Amino acid sequence: MNALNTAAIRGQFPALRRKEHGTTVAWFDGPGGSQVPQSVIDAISGFLTHGGSNHGGAFAASRDSEKAHETARRAVADLFGARLDDHVAFGMNMTSLNFALSRALATTWGPGDEVVVTRLDHDANVAPWLRAAAERGATVKWVPFDTTTYRLDLAAFADVVGPRTKLVAVTHASNAIGTIVDIAEASRIAHAAGALVVVDAVHYAPHGLIDMAATDSDFLLASAYKFFGPHIGAFAGRSSLMEELDAYKVRPSPATGPGKWETGTQSFEALTGVTAAVDHLAGLAPDEPTRRDQIALAFGAIQDHAVALGKRFLSGLPATATVFGITDDLTARTPTYAIELEGVSARRLATELGDRGIYVTDGNYYAVEVMRSLQREDGGLVRIGFLHYTTEDEVDRLLNALHDLA
Ligand SMILES: Cc1ncc(COP(=O)(O)O)c(C=O)c1O
Repeated sequence: MNALNTAAIRGQFPALRRKEHGTTVAWFDGPGGSQVPQSVIDAISGFLTHGGSNHGGAFAASRDSEKAHETARRAVADLFGARLDDHVAFGMNMTSLNFALSRALATTWGPGDEVVVTRLDHDANVAPWLRAAAERGATVKWVPFDTTTYRLDLAAFADVVGPRTKLVAVTHASNAIGTIVDIAEASRIAHAAGALVVVDAVHYAPHGLIDMAATDSDFLLASAYKFFGPHIGAFAGRSSLMEELDAYKVRPSPATGPGKWETGTQSFEALTGVTAAVDHLAGLAPDEPTRRDQIALAFGAIQDHAVALGKRFLSGLPATATVFGITDDLTARTPTYAIELEGVSARRLATELGDRGIYVTDGNYYAVEVMRSLQREDGGLVRIGFLHYTTEDEVDRLLNALHDLA
């Protein structure tokens, strides 16, 4: 596949035409949520326009909803590189799904059991495990990241994972500083001790190829609104575990299959949007034989684009800017940059940029342990995120504004 055609991609995203004070908005807030292509909007509105019904009805519209649900499961399985026997289930968002998963998993824990979490994770893959461990009398062990290299210390994993470890919860990539984690190695360490691995792929999903099979993840969670889809969460896991675990569910809902993990009525319109979002990614490399092959190739081009933008960004920063994250190997990170400008608070910088139609986020973005480790609990950092639709011109515009403000 050739390089990404950013202009063609941008043409598919109506929100990228949004203006503020007469200037086109530059969206660098992708780590907080991406925009969606017209195909996703059409899928969602098409479902609603043609009439949506609940599951279980003896009529065509109900069967359509069931089909949309199954189609979305297959799309997510392709995106996640799920194994043939993995289940894919949906829910409100990743946080809700992880609380549901942690509650069910914790029913098998007791005093003396251990749970491993990392300081690189978003709190949605920390707090559920802290709570579940506290309720069961289990012990929590922490894995730090190196605040000089910004990498997760995998040796520290090996130190804390042991025969009592029940679970390792780890992020695929940091939503704050962009570090990508070697999930295959984390799984290897966990499995060698007989522990399960839960991977938070929310931040990684729009940037790199998820491969549950190759990384041997037991459970993996993501949110479609980060990978060009609507606001809905998805998770996948080994069907044997998902069947065996006692999910919190109402009595009439399915007792087996992924449906047992899906509480209440699902957002069928959002599910059609999930399929369209995955198809959007696959459509970036349309000539491959399978959707999974297309997705894999597309992510190669997405990563090249991210590295090129990252180099441009890093080389053009003002001298008073500090980057908190990997700068020596841009393939070891997502293009999500946490920065500080000397003498300017994160909120002030985000506000100044926002006033210029340049959208960035500031604060801790719920990566509370990251900010604590970096001693930036107070006010946090400004976060700048690139996606496949980000252009060099936008990066230059951002750099110019940063020079002005510096
Ligand atoms: C890495 C990471 N994990 C989890 C979440 C929470 O996802 P959700 O909003 O779907 O609950 C986010 C959201 O920003 C995130 O970036």
